[in-house]
Amino acid sequence: MGLKPATNPDVEATSIELSIDGKTVTAKDGVSLYDVISMTGKIIPAMCYHYTFDPFGSCGMCLVMQEGKKAPVRSCTAKAAAGMVIRTEGEDLFLARKKAVEKHLSVHPLDCPVCDADGHCELQDMAFQHGVTNLANAKQKFIPEDTRSPVLDFNMNRCIACAECINVCKDVLMIDALQFMKKGGFNQVVPKGDLPLNCEFCGDCLAVCPVGAITNKFSKYLYKPWQMKKTTTTCNYCGDGCQMYLETKDEEVVRVTSPLSWKNKWGDRSDTAKGHGGLCVRGRFGFESLDSQNRLVRPLVRESGRLVEKPWLEAMHGLVDRFVAIKEKYGPDAIAGLVTARCTNEELYLFQKLMRTAFGTNQLDSSARYGHMNFVLASKHAIGLGRASNDWEDLTKAKAIIVIGSNITETNPLTAVRIKEAVRVYRAQVVTFDSAITNMSKLASHPFLIKPGTEGAVIDGLVKAAIDLDVADEAAVGKYPQAFEALKKAVASLSMEQLTAQTGLSSEVFSEVARLFAEAPRSIVLCSEGIVRRINGYQNVLKLMDLAWITGKLGQPGCGVSTVTEEPNEQGAVDMGTASEFLPGQGWYGDPEVRDRFAKAWDAVLPSSSSGAHLVEILRRCRTGQIKALYILGENPLATLPASMEVRAGLERLELLVVQDPFLTDTAKLAHFVLPACTYAEKDGTFTNFEGRVLRVRQAMDPRGESLPDWHIMTALANAMGCQWDYQSANDIQSEIMKLLPGYYNLGQPRKTAPTLDTYLSKGYTTKVGERYQATPEIHAPTRPFALLMGQLLMHSGKLSVQAPGLITIAPNTAKLRMNARDLEHLGLQEGAKVRLTSDRGSLQIAVQADQSVAPGTCFFPEHFNEPPVKDLMTVTVDPTTGVPSFKQMWVNVEPV
Ligand code: SF4
Ligand code: SF4
Ligand code: SF4
Ligand code: FES
Repeated sequence: MGLKPATNPDVEATSIELSIDGKTVTAKDGVSLYDVISMTGKIIPAMCYHYTFDPFGSCGMCLVMQEGKKAPVRSCTAKAAAGMVIRTEGEDLFLARKKAVEKHLSVHPLDCPVCDADGHCELQDMAFQHGVTNLANAKQKFIPEDTRSPVLDFNMNRCIACAECINVCKDVLMIDALQFMKKGGFNQVVPKGDLPLNCEFCGDCLAVCPVGAITNKFSKYLYKPWQMKKTTTTCNYCGDGCQMYLETKDEEVVRVTSPLSWKNKWGDRSDTAKGHGGLCVRGRFGFESLDSQNRLVRPLVRESGRLVEKPWLEAMHGLVDRFVAIKEKYGPDAIAGLVTARCTNEELYLFQKLMRTAFGTNQLDSSARYGHMNFVLASKHAIGLGRASNDWEDLTKAKAIIVIGSNITETNPLTAVRIKEAVRVYRAQVVTFDSAITNMSKLASHPFLIKPGTEGAVIDGLVKAAIDLDVADEAAVGKYPQAFEALKKAVASLSMEQLTAQTGLSSEVFSEVARLFAEAPRSIVLCSEGIVRRINGYQNVLKLMDLAWITGKLGQPGCGVSTVTEEPNEQGAVDMGTASEFLPGQGWYGDPEVRDRFAKAWDAVLPSSSSGAHLVEILRRCRTGQIKALYILGENPLATLPASMEVRAGLERLELLVVQDPFLTDTAKLAHFVLPACTYAEKDGTFTNFEGRVLRVRQAMDPRGESLPDWHIMTALANAMGCQWDYQSANDIQSEIMKLLPGYYNLGQPRKTAPTLDTYLSKGYTTKVGERYQATPEIHAPTRPFALLMGQLLMHSGKLSVQAPGLITIAPNTAKLRMNARDLEHLGLQEGAKVRLTSDRGSLQIAVQADQSVAPGTCFFPEHFNEPPVKDLMTVTVDPTTGVPSFKQMWVNVEPV
């Protein structure tokens, strides 16, 4: 516990002076003596210590002599105090540490040749450093290996009982899945209750284990650490942007590691506010998709109804001829493009440039349209900032966090770890509003289960309560009196009784949360899929902005309204202009000055601003026959969108469908040309994470088969279409972006931009605010009593993770509808029983399974799987302002069959 006071931003620990090896050192009172010693640059052995969690003091290595004490003291658990006189070196200390190593080695199997940690083992290093050669009393433990987990094997013969695994899981991750248990005469690490490990499978315990006691099932016996090439890159699964090392041997990824390691045990505890360096299960164990047997390795061309392999040149000639012919015959507006936000910034930039200059169309969109655009457009409209207002450090140090419509531990697990640190170290009050029983709600000080789809009404209640309680910040609202009056008038018409009935919350809840949010010195709202992917997403983000504004939390350091992103580069997709409303840098496409600037830079005539189309409109135009050719880069609308969108009909009507992807997706199976693209591990570039940090993506392996980086294929395509692009590498594209968007490459630093509220609150706010506070009574027929929700699982990310056998082993498609055990009981259903699931859109039979995270009255199916095709029961509602299609919630009936 020694370190916490020094990391609390609200408590200034007093400075003290002590002597270390004869030198006077200044330190914070109460921090670990070990930290103070390592701050001086002196590294003394420490096998059970790691700066990310509190010292445990079991290994006996960090011994120092303290004046006035006869025996050496363990410096990790000793707290620094004024006047201490410490000696860290000497023969006596060397021998004492050597004795500790001998003690550990005397019960340790000398099976280094077959241990994954051989060459990356702290015990080996310590034995070497201390010259431990002969152990007369060594004895073996003969403990059987625990191989019950799908991911990790536990070999307790090698365990040195340092508890690092237990501590990281309990303290940093707040999962607490491991414990010590006395078995067979030895203290062993076992999964809680000695049951098979059932946890988040993040592998952080594996990372901090200083020996080979925990091993990775997917790479066991496949390598020796020194045989591997280590490439630092950015995870491709979600928008948190975790830094990772792809470790390859013979051109195959063998394992993924990260900055969190027993090797990096020295650090400033307060730095963990920016991240602890770990990974989640997807990042650590989802790498097998890179070497998947399903990878496309050669171009495919449709001939006589079948896709057949062709050489690149032949395929490219064929598809360019078709694009040129379509453009000549029907004009550029017969062409459109969709791109995935798993591409790099450089590729996204090139994609929109290709569509606008080579093809001459502004019908283009990216997967950011599935929700993030609701946040971007609302936040840009309100405060001039088209992304989240806060970074990880803000979240960690916040005093009040409202998590609304976000199953954050599943979707963005490392952002969730920041909120956990906020709870554990900084004592934040965390409020959760969700219609699922989320992991975060179990840690929150104020967890609230709400009725499905009532997030908007919850925000209404909070804004109304803040006004009724008079907790509005005088300075914030006093600057814009007319806007505040208009807001008061808008919410006055809302009935608290109706809001409580609608949401399932009491009026006291609204009051308590509004007050704590307003009164905390640093307050943040974090909203994600339950807001931005649902009906009224855009308006609901604006209402959250209202809440933050009137409580004085907009534009204040460490405060704001933020979101996270599902795909790694959704923010980059928006910033690079892969949306019909934006040019790079989020310049409005409709602004002639902005358009003119890019037209000049690209030496091109840009399509008119009225011709643009977003995802839903593009698909509609495919169906009507207006669009004849569609270029899809990494997107898979057929597998993503519900049947009611008639995606198949639209795609089948096209004269030319080109899909560029690492895998033969459902959409690719319909294509006329399929181009094999590299994964992120086979190319260079950057991603922009949800905080606005630009992070390097580095090539770790050669492209599989004949696959090529997307930027390479687009350059060839543009040149064949008559452009003169000379990009030889991702760096060349970066140079061009740098010239057009000075400062965009911010070297991994979060971009802090002050919000500008003036225009929004002074112009037009008063006339518009009323629309978003219309009471929206719950409409669903009594014959459809259950809310069917589709969403993400921790173990998966979109449809990409299903290509990773490891993640499928951990979380296969059970093909079952998840329901609360109480509802199953009411319906008289046993686990695995079949039901008929019926919505206004159709009906299907499906088996059920009990899931304790699913609230009564709801049922859940993971969006990663289409077997059975539950998504086709969903209707699609398109946001009138942003074009975001929402299709993740539907009222259904569940009947036993
Ligand atoms: S894998 Fe992660 S969650 Fe599971 S026991 Fe290890 S640290 Fe804990
Ligand atoms: S399994 Fe590894 S990290 Fe855990 S107590 Fe044993 S040696 Fe330490
Ligand atoms: S939290 Fe996101 S970015 Fe980090 S390892 Fe997991 S999937 Fe990757
Ligand atoms: S590092 Fe101090 S006892 Fe292990």
